[in-house]
Order: sequence, then structure tokens, then C-alpha cells
Amino acid sequence: MSNPLPRLTAAEAASLINDGDTIACSGFTPAGAPKVVPAALAERAKALHAEGKPFKVGIITGASTGKSLDGALANAEAISFRTPYQSNSDLRKSINAGKTRYFDMHLSVVAQNLRYGFLGKVNWAIIEAADITPEGEIVVTSGVGIVPTAAKLADKIIIELNSNHPKALRGFHDIYEPLDPPHRREIPVYKPSDRIGSEVVKVDPSKIVGVVESNVPDETGGFDEPSEITKQIGQNVADFLGAELRAGRIPPEFLPIQSGVGNIANAVLGALGVHPDIPAFEMYTEVIQDAVIGLIRKGKVKFASGSSLTLSNDVLNSIYQDIEFFRSRILLRPQEISNNPEVVRRLGLITINTAIEADIFGNINSTHIMGKQLMNGIGGSGDFTRNAYLSIFTCPSVAKGGAISAIVPFVSHQDHSEHSVSAIITEQGVADLRGKCPEERAHLIIEKCAHPEYKEQLLAYINHFPAAHTPQALSAAFAMHQQFLATKDMRGVDWSKFIK
Ligand code: COA
Repeated sequence: MSNPLPRLTAAEAASLINDGDTIACSGFTPAGAPKVVPAALAERAKALHAEGKPFKVGIITGASTGKSLDGALANAEAISFRTPYQSNSDLRKSINAGKTRYFDMHLSVVAQNLRYGFLGKVNWAIIEAADITPEGEIVVTSGVGIVPTAAKLADKIIIELNSNHPKALRGFHDIYEPLDPPHRREIPVYKPSDRIGSEVVKVDPSKIVGVVESNVPDETGGFDEPSEITKQIGQNVADFLGAELRAGRIPPEFLPIQSGVGNIANAVLGALGVHPDIPAFEMYTEVIQDAVIGLIRKGKVKFASGSSLTLSNDVLNSIYQDIEFFRSRILLRPQEISNNPEVVRRLGLITINTAIEADIFGNINSTHIMGKQLMNGIGGSGDFTRNAYLSIFTCPSVAKGGAISAIVPFVSHQDHSEHSVSAIITEQGVADLRGKCPEERAHLIIEKCAHPEYKEQLLAYINHFPAAHTPQALSAAFAMHQQFLATKDMRGVDWSKFIK
């Protein structure tokens, strides 16, 4: 069918966007994020900057994006404000250098914060589509994110019609936007496979200023092969969940799994999939990573609900080649639903996320290095952790060849509190924190999770300072971090130097 919506080149579309505009983008992670218009916008910014003219835009996304969006715009020094999650090294540098204002937030609240007006006016939505009708029905691609809300609120819309994603993706999405308070009702998702919305995002076609045709793959990086450490972490998670199942604390049909982002999460999922004690399970998660697809093919994952197919290109293409097999096994939702606390609590999720560091009391840092350098952002980890049936954090016990202990007296930045964390799991073992007082947690985390090179040092910390409900010593809580900043090694801190 011929499409009367106007066609534009990427440069023509970019030329419509003005300095100071706010742009809301499709996608969730690099999956489904626009590519050619942001890249053209970066070129426009560079040209304007060369003429001595200002050009910066605010960028609101579902989650991280790829090199053509965050990377190109950060390199062009064209991002004034960015929220919520990012993982691009160039943008990270710009944020940590104080050149880009970055506001981190739980991914489940991005769309509603936009609707509530907390993030200001949205001038543009740039939406990657697999298909679009003249009536304004958009079939989004491999990620949904905030698209329904972005399309509704934006003054004008630019569509990137990317033929790299098949039109047959229609039916993989479940588009639903809740009403705002005081009119909000329950979200009727009672199992991961429940459909509650529409296959398409419907927009007023008069808001679409143009369609830019493209054919470019998603910019998701691949995953590292699991290492001995990440394999052991995965094994420990699977053994723990197997024991919970035998103890009757997880029902025989199991509970849906949410699994976080990154290499460790991918390896953990791989380990769960091959563990003989873990039955076939469902996923209610935000990112569907490579490991899940293999498990769906093997029947170990029965259904996966998420907000994106964050897959390496080979794996994504393998789905597209076998699309009818996956149609009844995968559903992509707006992040407001995939990460919704109400649904997470109702379904009773087992959540598995990755920590940068954990402290001996169970507080978690997922976002910052040494308290001040942003890594990626909180993502959905808070949405899931706080509302989980069983919330697990995993990490290797040490980083940087052992010079950094991931288990510290006090986290240098706090994203998840001790009250939300059920268990911490490293390659060393499992600390089950449920029902334990702070002192018991400290002994358990040191004994089960800390690296042998740090056990004695951490035990000396709690033994050196006077007993208390939470045996924390404010004078020394960051001594390991401070020593690392001074000597590049956390080992060998002498607690006797600190005031008791
Ligand atoms: N101190 C300093 N650096 C540390 C560290 C610590 N305590 N722990 C890890 N690192 C470094 C690693 O050395 C590595 O550095 P490199 O890139 O220079 O090699 C880097 O952090 C990433 O670690 P890696 O082991 O590759 O982890 P990952 O890919 O599994 O990612 C997180 C881990 C925490 C960064 C990632 O999971 C994240 O961004 N989480 C927050 C959001 C979230 O949980 N979303 C999921 C909700 S569904």
C-alpha cells in the first residue's frame, strides 16, 4: 500500500530540530533506538558549532541507546540533558566531566514523569518503526521503552522506518498506557504472557512530519564469553534457587525470573538454563539478552516478557528467520509495564541484578565507581529489587585483579538498601540475608561472599569498633576506598589508625 506520509532524508529531518529542543526517543537499550536521524543531528550540531552557533538538545530515552545516538551526540557535544539510563563510553565521559547534565531515575517511572510534566515539554519524538500505516499505526521494532508516551506528548514525530526489522514484528508488542492518578486502575497482568493492550502504537498522523527510510542493524554490543568467575556465580545462583525450591519456598512450578543487564547477568542466565534442579521457567524482565533465546529454543524458558530484544545481531537475525516460532513465546511491553512495581509484586518475581559493590550490611551500589564516577545508571534494578519475591544481587568478589574488594564496609554510593536485598551471591558463595540482623548479615557476607584476601580485613573492621546494632564506624567506613584512591589497592588497611 502506498504511504502518503512525507518522506525525508535524515539530514532534512535533523534540520527541523532546534537548539534547546527536547527529544524523546524510541527503544530500550540500543534495541529499537533511532539511529540515522540522531547521527545526522550530530553532524548538524558539529556544523553549527563550527560556525560558532550553539546547538544542544535534551535527550530522553527508554534506557541506554547505541553509538549513533548517545555516542554521536556526546562526541558532538550536543546533549544538554540526558535521562534515564546510558551505557555509552563517550556519553559517560561527558557526564563524568560535567559537560552533560544527567538525571538518573527508575525506568518504570520515566513515562509517568513525562506525563506528569516533571521533565518539561517534549518537542520531538523520534521513533524507529518496522512498519507504519497512513492512519498513524506504528509497529515498533526490537525495543518499546517509552514510545506510547513519547508519541502522545511530543509536538511532532519523526519516524525512522528501518527495513532491517521485518514488518512481521507486528504482534510481538503489547502497547498499554495506564491512566494517571486519581483514575489509575490495576494493570491486569496476572502472568507473564498476558496481553492487555494493542499491537501498535497509535498516533495522530498529522503530528508525523516525515518518515526517514533506513536499513541499519541495532547497535547492541555482543557479550563476553562466560569466564570461570561468572560461571561460578551462575552456578551459585542456580544451586541457591534449587535449594529454595526443595525447601518449598519457591513453588514447584517455579516463579518468573527477572535478570539484569551485562555480562554477569547473561552468564547467570546461561547457568540457570542448564541446572538440572531448575524447571522450565517464565521470564518477566526488561531486557531479553542472548542467553534467553537459546533457552527458549531448548524449552527451558517457556515465555519471555520484556521491553526489548537486546541481542547481538546474529541472535536477533536468527529470531527474525524463525519469527513464527518466537511469536507465541516473546512479548515486548512499554517499560512502564515490564518494570511496573505492582506487576512485579503480584507475579512474585525472582530478581537477579548485578552490583558494582555491596557492603557488609547488604546495601548495594549499582551505579558509581568510588562514589563519584557514573557507570551506567540504576536502570530497572530498583523497580524489580524493591518489589521482588526474592531479590538477588550478584558480583565477582573482587575487581581490577583483586585490587578492589566488591565487599566493603560501606557502599560508596547507595542504590538499593539493605531492606530490599534478599541475598548476595559472588563466586565465593551465597549470603542469604533474610531475617538476619545487621551484625549477622555482616558476618555472613564476609564469610560467604568476600574474597579470601579480604576476609580477615573485613572481619577486623567489625571486631575493632565497638558493638552496635549496625556495627559501622563512620571514621573508617570509606578507608578501603580512600586507600585505593591513594595507592590503587584496597588490601592491608590498618583499622587501628581510626577513632573507636
Ligand atoms: N570498583 C571499580 N570498578 C568495578 C567494580 C568496583 N567495585 N566492580 C566492577 N567494576 C568494573 C569492572 O572492572 C568493569 O570495568 P572494565 O569495563 O574497565 O573492565 C566494569 O566495572 C563492568 O563490570 P563487568 O564485570 O563487566 O559487569 P557487567 O557488564 O555485568 O555490568 C553493572 C555490571 C553493574 C555495571 C551493570 O549490571 C549495570 O549497569 N547495572 C545497573 C543497572 C541494572 O542493574 N539494570 C538491570 C535491571 S533489569
